[in-house]
Amino acid sequence: MRILGIESSCDETAVAVVEDGVRIRSSIVASQVSTHAIYGGVVPELASRMHLEAIDPLVDQALMQADVGLNDIDGIAATQGPGLIGALLVGFSYAKALAWARHLPLAGVNHLEAHICSLQLLDNPPGFPFICLVVSGGHTNIYHVKEPGAFTLMGQTRDDAAGEAFDKVAKMMGLSYPGGPAIEALAQKGNPEKIKFPRSMLGKDSFDFSFSGLKSAVARHLHETPEMSPDIDDDRLAHVAAGFQMAVIDVLSTKLIAAAKKKKCADIGIAGGVSANRTFVDILSERAEQHKINVFSPPLSLCGDNAAMIAARGWEMIRNNQVCGLADDVYSRIKF
Ligand code: KG4
Ligand code: ZN
Repeated sequence: MRILGIESSCDETAVAVVEDGVRIRSSIVASQVSTHAIYGGVVPELASRMHLEAIDPLVDQALMQADVGLNDIDGIAATQGPGLIGALLVGFSYAKALAWARHLPLAGVNHLEAHICSLQLLDNPPGFPFICLVVSGGHTNIYHVKEPGAFTLMGQTRDDAAGEAFDKVAKMMGLSYPGGPAIEALAQKGNPEKIKFPRSMLGKDSFDFSFSGLKSAVARHLHETPEMSPDIDDDRLAHVAAGFQMAVIDVLSTKLIAAAKKKKCADIGIAGGVSANRTFVDILSERAEQHKINVFSPPLSLCGDNAAMIAARGWEMIRNNQVCGLADDVYSRIKF
């Protein structure tokens, strides 16, 4: 079954053609990041307008790259939520219209479930049941994935998402948007042990996260120590980046391994923008190995927002007859 996937929940317009939920025939992402970077973050109105301009040519391009026509498509999958309402409306309305005109089934995909499904696109995917962390600019959610399509939320952030903390700390340090890659690059030159920032664990049985205290600690450190102290002098910002990054990685890794042990899972998956962080992947893999747990992470092209993961999740939904109609609407937040 060949699915056309469409993603427009935030600042990437993406279209993909995926076969049987696992084989990517084409996957194109048009990023708006350079436009939003001027403003230091995503401007929703601009995002909607740019999706509108990009979507139609991207669909043509994705079909052409996959070497198929609309007649060869068996179903359509589009992100229904969560995300920016205006942005979601562009992709979802386009998908509704196309599905209606071509008499094709339409899956309204949950963006977070799709990030989890990015792992099924790996040549060697995690085995069920597994623990999955969806970690991005908007979410830090730990799921127990019992079987395909069965996602149970075990914990989530109570304030900032991990990616949001990267972005905000980067802004305080005068680094560019998005902050994650900028902090990771700077951290390479720093010593993560030099400045010990707090780790908020919220009790040892909790799978929830809190990153606002860490963010404030970095802000305090930057304000309270304006003079270069002799031992950290001109590498100070690099040490701050490394110390901050290590604090985030420490909390994420500790909770993921605890969740895998609690649910007796041999595999952990990570997905979403922050899973592009190599230091995170390496440290988590090293620590998990000590507990005989394997770690799976998507290639860079599937870490951030993309439409291949939307098509992968949509394929599961359409096969299970979880389809939607013209009356269905987008949603900005998850409905529990
Ligand atoms: O999944 P994504 O592309 O969009 C959302 O759904 O939010 O994630 C974007 C987030 C941003 O906060 C960005 O700073 C973060 O992922 N990110 C990183 C890295 N690359 C992207 N965070 C840490 N290290 C990275 N290398
Ligand atoms: Zn995302």
